[in-house]
Amino acid sequence: MITIQREKELRATIRQQKSQGKRIGFVPTMGNLHDGHIALVKQALSICDYVVTSIFVNPLQFGANEDLDKYPRTLEADKDRLVQAGNHALFLPKTDQIYPEGLDQHTKVVVPSLTQDHCGASRPGHFDGVTTVVSILFNMVQPDVAVFGQKDFQQLAVIRKMAQDLHMPVTVEGHPTVREEDGLAMSSRNGYLDASQRKVATFLYQTLQQTADKLQNSFSSKPVNEDFAQLETDARAKLTEAGFRPDYYNIVASNTLRPATADDKEITILAAAYLGTTRLIDNISITL
Ligand code: PAF
Repeated sequence: MITIQREKELRATIRQQKSQGKRIGFVPTMGNLHDGHIALVKQALSICDYVVTSIFVNPLQFGANEDLDKYPRTLEADKDRLVQAGNHALFLPKTDQIYPEGLDQHTKVVVPSLTQDHCGASRPGHFDGVTTVVSILFNMVQPDVAVFGQKDFQQLAVIRKMAQDLHMPVTVEGHPTVREEDGLAMSSRNGYLDASQRKVATFLYQTLQQTADKLQNSFSSKPVNEDFAQLETDARAKLTEAGFRPDYYNIVASNTLRPATADDKEITILAAAYLGTTRLIDNISITL
């Protein structure tokens, strides 16, 4: 695996690979790589000839009171994992390469339609930071395919919309959430949990499964708006009882991320909840 820091070197590498007819895969990450990230790299390797993974902890997507400073940075272990996975190039840009005049002066990419609710409501400006950095990275790497995890369901939808609206010549692929044995979605933020919080954390996915099960099996005809609202209220109460501080628990139409209605067949349940100061997110998609 080669490690690249400079944009010029990255562009030369990509140009050379493309001149040999190679299809470029890209996996943008913020590092602290776990099996979920490695699954994205493996998916990219299975459909592309040359895979670039980036590690950049993007300050623009963190709010003022969020965990930018303590976000885990584990570069040497990350490199080992990428080599083992067969990743070809690691791109490691510096903050002043990405935002040379600082965050405030930098041009922003904003996707208004899918970013108002859910994580967008709880973390104002977060998705503008994500879409801005992903656009910059797409322009630098020029991938044919980019792979993102479905754990960040709203992020994936927002990036797909951005790529479509801006006619970006890249196919955006999603990879199913990779889970620990007890069902907890893998996330770099799981490392913030203490032992007792870690035990409780699995209850987030169990609650999502219970709601999904009820949606699929408890209604003789299709669930209606009041049923969705009741299921959301029940789930929030259960999470609170288990020791979480729920942020949101929303049953939505999978394609619009708007509240589900009786007409929707493709449904996603989106959840975010705090254990102490750690914010966990997860989701389940079902067909009714
Ligand atoms: O999902 C992430 O790790 C980040 O939001 C991403 C896509 C790498 C952009 O910084």
